Amino acid sequence: MLKNRVVMSPMCQYSVDAHDGRLNAWHYVHYVSRAVGGTGLILVEMTDVEPNGRITAGDSGIWDDSHIEPLARIAEQVHRYGAKFGVQIAHAGRKATDPTWDVVAPSAIRFSDSLPMPRALTTDECARLVEKFAAGARRVVAAGADTLELHGAHGYLLNQFMSPGSNHRSDRYGDPTRFPVEVIEAVRAEMPSGMPLFMRVSSVEYSPEGYGLEGLIEMAGAFQKAGVDLFDASSGSNYPAGPERVYPGYQVPYADRIRKELHMPVMAVGMLEDPILAQSVVGEGRADLVAIGRGHLAHPYWTNAAALQLGVEVQTPWEYDRAFPRAKKRG
Ligand SMILES: Cc1cc2nc3c(=O)[nH]c(=O)nc-3n(C[C@H](O)[C@H](O)[C@H](O)COP(=O)(O)O)c2cc1C
Repeated sequence: MLKNRVVMSPMCQYSVDAHDGRLNAWHYVHYVSRAVGGTGLILVEMTDVEPNGRITAGDSGIWDDSHIEPLARIAEQVHRYGAKFGVQIAHAGRKATDPTWDVVAPSAIRFSDSLPMPRALTTDECARLVEKFAAGARRVVAAGADTLELHGAHGYLLNQFMSPGSNHRSDRYGDPTRFPVEVIEAVRAEMPSGMPLFMRVSSVEYSPEGYGLEGLIEMAGAFQKAGVDLFDASSGSNYPAGPERVYPGYQVPYADRIRKELHMPVMAVGMLEDPILAQSVVGEGRADLVAIGRGHLAHPYWTNAAALQLGVEVQTPWEYDRAFPRAKKRG
């Protein structure tokens, strides 16, 4: 049970210092301080299932058992402040930025001239990658996580399989849902039955080469059947083009539509850091959770400040009680 509907959106820190995928003191302070600040669910940044599935060498990794311990330390302390803990697991595919790596993708189609040309995965390699996602999930569970989010958005590997402009395969993985469904089923099998599985999706792709909202909803139905419990509705980034305009809450209609079509919980994200807007998104039943990204970077105690502004219960550690003399406190 979450203590509130506020989620720290996964955000890469690119700050793993030994380039070994292990989270360090920076990450510990970064995540635990947002738990102190009252956030209900801390989602750790994109955490990659193999070394060449990183965006940069500074990314978080989950391809080795040595990654469990630093995550477990953060999880333990996040729990101490009453927050839940989750990890976003991913593979960057053609969005890996280091041209000296073995950059892989569904097809040998590059994102843009600024990123390396990937080679197409073989059918066997796709199946082995499914196992790597499962092994990553096993480690996230071992670290004491309460949930796990699959990164199926922003042009990373799962999204690359889903999109017609980046998946020209003629084997079984040419079906845009096939690879993500296998990953979902394999990951689900590693999770305790009551643990919710989140999936971040790009709801629309802003490109004639990509899919639109109707296409996404159809695929999401298959992902729901395979075991996804909640969709986190983001958009774009599998192609260089972006939205014509962005404004507070611009992605909320996608969350709302997925929620209503599939009758399942969703998370809204994107320029929701005005607490009144965030409250109304949840209050109107357009989303079940709100993810705050940059608002959390700027203000680690965003949630407590929002609670004060909205006149609702502030859930701060007792050490900080004197900062909130007039706030409602838990009895
Ligand atoms: C520094 C930074 C790193 C990010 N890294 C990730 C990531 O690891 N995974 C992801 O799904 N989104 C990532 N995002 C996107 C955010 O999670 C969020 O969707 C986006 O910033 C919009 O929300 P906001 O307007 O509240 O910041 C990142 C955003 C920022 C600013």
